[in-house]
Amino acid sequence: MDIRFGVVTVSDRSASGERVDASGPILVDAIRIQGWSVNKVVIIPDDLERIKATLATWADSDQVDVILTTGGTGFAPRDVTPEGTQAILERLVPGIPEVMRAESLKITPHAMLSRMTAGIRKNTLIINLPGSPKAALENFHVIKPVLEHAVKLLKDDPGSEQGHLATKQ
Ligand code: MTE
Repeated sequence: MDIRFGVVTVSDRSASGERVDASGPILVDAIRIQGWSVNKVVIIPDDLERIKATLATWADSDQVDVILTTGGTGFAPRDVTPEGTQAILERLVPGIPEVMRAESLKITPHAMLSRMTAGIRKNTLIINLPGSPKAALENFHVIKPVLEHAVKLLKDDPGSEQGHLATKQ
């Protein structure tokens, strides 16, 4: 099953050209290795309004099923990706960041410093990932196994209910 992704790198330094963005491309490669599509890619600064506008426009475009952001989830004064994301979400999905943090804690105690969030707007699942290529990829591998089922549920695909019944019985 294909999943249509959007990847947003949130970084002042990458947006200004001061630093080459490594995290966006590493996520794009990891998505394509799964056989999924990347329909939209952008690098934006750590700006609340830009984050909100990008995520809302993409979620409302009906061109992406999942939006991954990378960066801006930490404690620096300009780290506002979770705030920008939560501002445009309609429903929160706390289980995703809970499990990403739990699994990442097995790798580094710094995992608890990521304020990443996740949720749903219309039929699009939006998930924050941390900013370093290593952290973005490690967290992507945590969520990868549930994405197809999540997207089926968001599309209100009756076949996805079969999946529930099969696991309950
Ligand atoms: N999660 C994993 N799996 N691996 C990591 O190396 N780094 C952490 C954390 N989550 C890390 C991780 C660090 S050092 C920070 S500061 C936070 O993510 C926030 O990162 P960000 O500000 O780049 O979004």
